[in-house]
Parts: sequence; structure tokens; C-alpha cells
Amino acid sequence: MHIPYFRPRRLRGSAEIRRMVRETKLSVDDLIYPLFVTYEDGKKEIASMPGQYQFSVELLVKEVQEAKSLGIPAVVLFGLPEEKDAVGSDSCNDGGIIQQAVRAVKQSVPDIMVITDVCFCEYTDHGHCGIIKDEQVDNDATLELLAKQAVSHAQAGADMLAPSGMMDGMIAAIREGLDESGFEHLPIMSYAVKYASAFYGPFRDAVESAPKFGDRRTHQMDPANAMEAIREATLDIEEGADILMVKPGMPYLDILRVLREHFDTPLAAYNVSGEYAMVKAAAQKGWIDEKAVALEMLTSIKRAGADLILTYFAKDAAKWL
Ligand code: PBG
Repeated sequence: MHIPYFRPRRLRGSAEIRRMVRETKLSVDDLIYPLFVTYEDGKKEIASMPGQYQFSVELLVKEVQEAKSLGIPAVVLFGLPEEKDAVGSDSCNDGGIIQQAVRAVKQSVPDIMVITDVCFCEYTDHGHCGIIKDEQVDNDATLELLAKQAVSHAQAGADMLAPSGMMDGMIAAIREGLDESGFEHLPIMSYAVKYASAFYGPFRDAVESAPKFGDRRTHQMDPANAMEAIREATLDIEEGADILMVKPGMPYLDILRVLREHFDTPLAAYNVSGEYAMVKAAAQKGWIDEKAVALEMLTSIKRAGADLILTYFAKDAAKWL
């Protein structure tokens, strides 16, 4: 019989030694908590995302306060406007929902990073991420408006902007718009590598942003592509992105790993609505252990290369860690 000389089990024998040799440590510092804000009063639970809500501005402030008291360093805000139109006007309006929310949060909870999602799909009546021409999202017409929206978020007091529309040249357009308006210090976290994913389903319920015709496959990436992720990320770095994001998270760990090996900028991963919904649903049925699965999932995302994780589990994770 072969007696093993190397015994990896020696380093697994107790909780203490496992703790000492653990390579990846998830921390509350890594978490970004996504939140939805609406014109309506009160809060309304999102059916496909148990435990997540559409908040009024007032209740949003309370939720951010709670996140802050749990040690979460940042929130990312998504707005549901009172009225949607063809060009998503509310998103660029100084009195718009996101601008109101940012001002209110910054006033009451000054020391938490407020990140805003910069896109049009929540604000347009057709649900697309920009201006429509001939049933297609017109890239360059959208760029101009994206810069306008970004400046408006900055003026309201946002600490970081997260453009998610996957328009070509969006980072350069936004960077230029910000710099011209005196916001050259404001960082951009680009949804650089964002796939056309079915995992966004519950989010589109949350912000009522499902496209009324067509889909997002002409601008978001094909889930089958990996090398293209390097090209997308390279372009965004050249255009001035400060942080690169991969989205979704768990089904795209290989992409995170590839980016980790190619880039030295901080990397974020978005543990999206569908990933959250699956864990919640299975846990409600008693089929999995929610806490163990959620923490394993977040640890795996970090192990794959993410420095930051946008996750609806942020509050839970902060309590569990
Ligand atoms: C676009 C945006 C989306 C998400 C974040 N920003 C939706 C989309 O591209 O359709 C999805 C997030 C999630 O699923 O949790 N503004």
C-alpha cells in the first residue's frame, strides 16, 4: 500500500489552522448594496426578489443608514421615475428621482459612497438603454445624453458613477462631460464586461425596464464570448474607467479570472438579481442553506478575482461575517 508523504489534510485539521491558511477572505469592505428608489410612498417588496424593495426617498435614506451602521461602504442606486418617455428625460432632470435620492442620502448619511447607475432603460417608455432610431439603440445619439445624465448625477452629489448601457465610447463621453463640468475627480466604475444575460430577469421586474420590443443583444455581450471581454475592458481603461465590472457574477467566474490576470485596476462583479432569486427560492423551499450558499457564492466571486461585489445579500453578508 502506498503511504502518502504529502498530506494536505494536515492543514485542514482544525478551524484554527483552516483560518490560518485561508487564501480568500470576504469582508464587509468588499460589498456594494444595490437599492431601488421610487416616487411612491412607503416600500414595496419586489415579488421575484424577496427581501428587496422599491423604496420611497424617505425610506431609502433609512435603508442606507442601516447599511452604513452595518459597515457597508457603498450603495448603488437605481431610480424608477414617475413618468417614462422616449428619451428617458427624468434621468437627466435636476428634480428627477435619482437626483432627489442622491441629495437626500448625501444629506443624511454623508459618509457612505453613493454610486449611481448611469443608463436609460429604467427611464424610457420602450425600456431600451438609449435613443431609438429604426428600432435600434442609436449609439452616438445616446452618448451625448449619457454625458448629460452623468453630469446631472454628479451635480446632485454622487460619489461615483456606474455606466451600465454598453454603448461604444460611453466611458470617454462621460469622462469628457464630467471633466468639462469640473468633476474630474469623480471616479467611473464601468460595467465594462456586461453580458446579455437571462439572469437580469428579476431586476427588470424591479424597475419595470423589460424592453417593449427586441432585446439587448445588439449591445450587451454574447454569453459565449471570453476573449472579447479583454477587448471591452481594454477600451474602457483607455477611455478612462477607474474600476472595471463583470456582470453577472457567478456564471462568469472564468471571465473575472481572465480580467484579473490582464488588468491591475480594481475589479467589481455584480452578483445579479437572478443569482439572488435562485438562492432565495431554493432556500424558501428548504432545499439549500441560504446563509452557507450565499457566503460560498460571494467567496467564490472574490476568489475568482473580484475586489468588490455588488450584491443584494450585502446586508445579510455584513451580519453573517
Ligand atoms: C441597466 C442595468 C441592469 C442591471 C443593472 N443595470 C439591467 C439590464 O441590463 O437589463 C441588472 C442588475 C440585476 O439583474 O441585478 N440599467
